[in-house]
Amino acid sequence: MRVLTGIQPSGDLHIGNYFGSIKQMVDAQKANDTFAFIANYHAMSSGNGGPRLAELTMQTATDFLALGIDPDKSTFWVQSDVKDVLELYWVLSAFTPMGLLERAHSYKDKTAKGIAANHSLFSYPVLMAADILLYSPDIVPVGKDQIQHVEIARDIAIKFNNEYGDIFKLPEFKIEENVATVPGTNGQKMSKSYNNTVNIFGEEKKQLKTIKKIVTEAIPLEEPKEYENCNVYNMAKLFLNENECRDLQERYKRGGEGHGHFKLYLHDVIWEYFKPYREKREYYASHQEEVREILNAGAQKTKEIASPMIEKIRSATGISY
Ligand code: ADP
Ligand code: TRP
Repeated sequence: MRVLTGIQPSGDLHIGNYFGSIKQMVDAQKANDTFAFIANYHAMSSGNGGPRLAELTMQTATDFLALGIDPDKSTFWVQSDVKDVLELYWVLSAFTPMGLLERAHSYKDKTAKGIAANHSLFSYPVLMAADILLYSPDIVPVGKDQIQHVEIARDIAIKFNNEYGDIFKLPEFKIEENVATVPGTNGQKMSKSYNNTVNIFGEEKKQLKTIKKIVTEAIPLEEPKEYENCNVYNMAKLFLNENECRDLQERYKRGGEGHGHFKLYLHDVIWEYFKPYREKREYYASHQEEVREILNAGAQKTKEIASPMIEKIRSATGISY
């Protein structure tokens, strides 16, 4: 089965990105034909650019490799290295009703947060549809916020196929139900743009400071506490097995410990979990040429799939003459 996902190089990766997307991709590598790319064209739509974008592209690639994207198992590349996607983006635009984009939540959310309402932000789902349809994946693993974009890709593909025959495979999204939305430090969806993230790679002191900021109910130390709606518990459970979850629940119910204790525990759990990945990250951070070579090889492999597909599309649509 072919599995594909992309991630924007728009800031430091956080645990929402990890559980919502990266981990699913790493796990999928075992049994599937996996495709993962750094969506650097996408990052431009929310104002990223210049040397910082170039730096974030390499940083995100380095992080992905550290977190377990294995170039021997996955095809891993930077979106802008395979430009056929931009041609497909234009072709698909002609099959995208305005209403479909006007209904997109992500656009509305981003503009409501103050991101400039430019055309690339509005037409973003069409580029994402091109990212998907060009490579014919069966499955696209994403967080809950991206489901609508995969559905838009399907709608566009259906419209195109109705006109020109069965060229595009209809993609399915996949979300991990128990991590559909990872909460941030304030209980809202964790997101770079909400300033509520716990980052995967950062300094230990900074991580502890962030975790101490997690919003919790004010309840006297000795009293029992509710774990179900506690932001600390909900973050911790992503990292714990069943027994560890039960133990933590008991500690909440027993009383005698405050949220401060649970926060220290959460910090330790997260710090330990990412320890091997931090070590791997140090290796790739000091071997950036190797990262570039991996990305170049990935782009070459990707082009072999993109080229015949784009030729088929050019021929069907009459762009080739
Ligand atoms: P952000 O909201 O921080 O800008 P992105 O939009 O770049 O994150 O998301 C990258 C990937 O990570 C997407 O597949 C998205 O669904 C997933 N993701 C981001 N935040 C979360 C979250 N809080 N919970 C689950 N998945 C998430
Ligand atoms: N839109 C996704 C995000 O913001 C990133 C992305 C771009 C993507 N193209 C994709 C994800 C194709 C899956 C498939 O997270």
